[in-house]
Amino acid sequence: MSGIARTSATGADGMLPELLAWSSSFHDDRALVREDLIGSAAHVTMLARTGIVSTADARLLRDSLRSLYQEACAGTLALPSDEEDVHMAVEAELGKRAGAVAGRLHTARSRNDQVALDLRLHVRDQGVALVGELGPLIGALAERASREKDVLLPAYTHRQRAQPVSAGFLVAAWGIGLVRATQTVIFGLDQIEMPLGSGACSGTSLPIDRALVARLFAPWEPTRNALQTVGDRDFALDWTWGVARVVLALGRLATDVVDFSTSEFGLVRLDGAISAGSSMMPQKKNPDIFELVRGKSARAVGNVVAMLALMKGLASGYNRDQQEDRLPLLEAGPLARGCTRVVSLAVEHVEFDAERGRRALDEGFTQATDLAEALVRRGVPFREAYKAVGALVALAVGEGVSLRSVDASRAHAIHPGLDAESLRALDPAAAVAAKESIGGTGPRSVDAQVAWLRDRGRDCAAKAAGHGSLALLAERVFAEPLELS
Ligand code: ARG
Repeated sequence: MSGIARTSATGADGMLPELLAWSSSFHDDRALVREDLIGSAAHVTMLARTGIVSTADARLLRDSLRSLYQEACAGTLALPSDEEDVHMAVEAELGKRAGAVAGRLHTARSRNDQVALDLRLHVRDQGVALVGELGPLIGALAERASREKDVLLPAYTHRQRAQPVSAGFLVAAWGIGLVRATQTVIFGLDQIEMPLGSGACSGTSLPIDRALVARLFAPWEPTRNALQTVGDRDFALDWTWGVARVVLALGRLATDVVDFSTSEFGLVRLDGAISAGSSMMPQKKNPDIFELVRGKSARAVGNVVAMLALMKGLASGYNRDQQEDRLPLLEAGPLARGCTRVVSLAVEHVEFDAERGRRALDEGFTQATDLAEALVRRGVPFREAYKAVGALVALAVGEGVSLRSVDASRAHAIHPGLDAESLRALDPAAAVAAKESIGGTGPRSVDAQVAWLRDRGRDCAAKAAGHGSLALLAERVFAEPLELS
C-alpha cells in the first residue's frame, strides 16, 4: 500500500491488511482503468488551462497518463494491487513513473467525484455500444416482419389461441418491444451529466473550470450540486433498468420461439446451427440459446433490485456502501450485449412453418370475433353478434366440427345475419387482411410498423454517435491543448 490516502490524522500504521484487502474495490474497479485515466487526463488538462498546475507539469502528467492508457488498451498495464481502489492504484503508479509531480494530480478532486465520473463514462461507453448493436437488430426485425406478412398463425391471449395474425405482425411486435426498451437505455444516457469538480462533497475554492471538462465530455453539462452529485447513482439505476428492459424484451421473443418450436405448437422450426442436442435423448433438438436469453434476464432483474436496495436509505453525499454498485453495474453491459448478439445471430435461423400456422387457424374458431364484426358491419349490435357467434361456436364444439363447416341453415337458425356472405369472415387470410386499424395485423398496418421500426433502427446509430465511445473521448481529451496560444 502506498499510503496515498493516509495522514498522521488517519493513523500512521495503516489499516489492518486483511481489512484493507476486504474493503478494496480494486479487483472490481480495475475494469474501469481506461475510464479513470481519461478522467484524469481531462482533469489535468483543465488544471493546466486554468493555471492551477503549470503547463510543464501538466504535460508530464498527461504524457504519463497517455502511456498508461495505451498500455491499458493493449492489456499490458500492471497496476499495484494492494491499493484501496483503481484511483489510488493509478496515482501510485503515476508516482513511480512521473515522480513528485504526480502529487499535483489530485488537486481539486476527490475519489468521490472521480468514481462518479468513471462509472458514468463506463455506462456511456457500454450504453453507446449496446444501442449501436440494438439498431441493426431492430432493422433486421423490420426486414423480417416485412418478409413474413403472408405467413399466418394464431396470436395468443392467456396462451390460448385467440385471433389470426401474420408472422410479420408477430415479428414487428418483438421489434417494437425492443425499440421501447432501447429508448429507455437512450433516455438514461441522455440524463447523464459531468460530475468532476464536485470534490468530496461541496466543490473547491480553487479556480477550476468545470465547463471546460464538460465540453471534453460533450454533450454532458456539469452537474448542478456537488453534494447531490457524489451521492447520486441515478444513472446506474437507469442503466440497470434499461438493460433489464432490453433483456426482458429479448426474453419475450425467446419465449415465443421456445414455445412455438415445440411439437405441440409447431409454428416455427429451428435449424441445426442454433439447436442444442441432449446427451441422452438422440432425437432432441433443443432451443437452449433462447432459453438462456430468457434465463439471463434473472441477472438483469437482480441487478436492478441490487441497485435499488443499495441506494435505499443512504444519506446525502458519498457513502462507502456505494462501492457495492460495481458488480451490478459492470455486469449489465456485457449481459445485454451478449443477449443482443445471440438473438441477432439466432433469429435468422428460426423459420416459420406456414403450413402449421394455417392448420392452427383452419377450424375457424380464432376468427369468431371477425364473424361477429361482420354482423356489426350490417348493423347488428356487437353484444347481440357476440352472443350469436358464441352460440355457433357452442354448436360446432358440441358436434365436434370446425366452425367453418357448420351447416349454413343451422347457422342461419341461430341468427339471420349468419349467412354465406358473413361466414366468409371465417377465412383467416380475409380476417388478417381486414385489420387495418392503426397497430392492427393488416398488411398496410404492418407496413407502417415496419417503416417505423426501420427509422428507429437508424435513430440508434445516430444516438450512439451523438454520445460517442470511450475511445473517441480519449482521442478528444488527449488532443486538447494544455495551453491556448
Ligand atoms: N473505492 C471507492 C468506491 O469505489 C472510491 C471512493 C472512495 N471514497 C472515499 N472517500 N473513501 O466507491
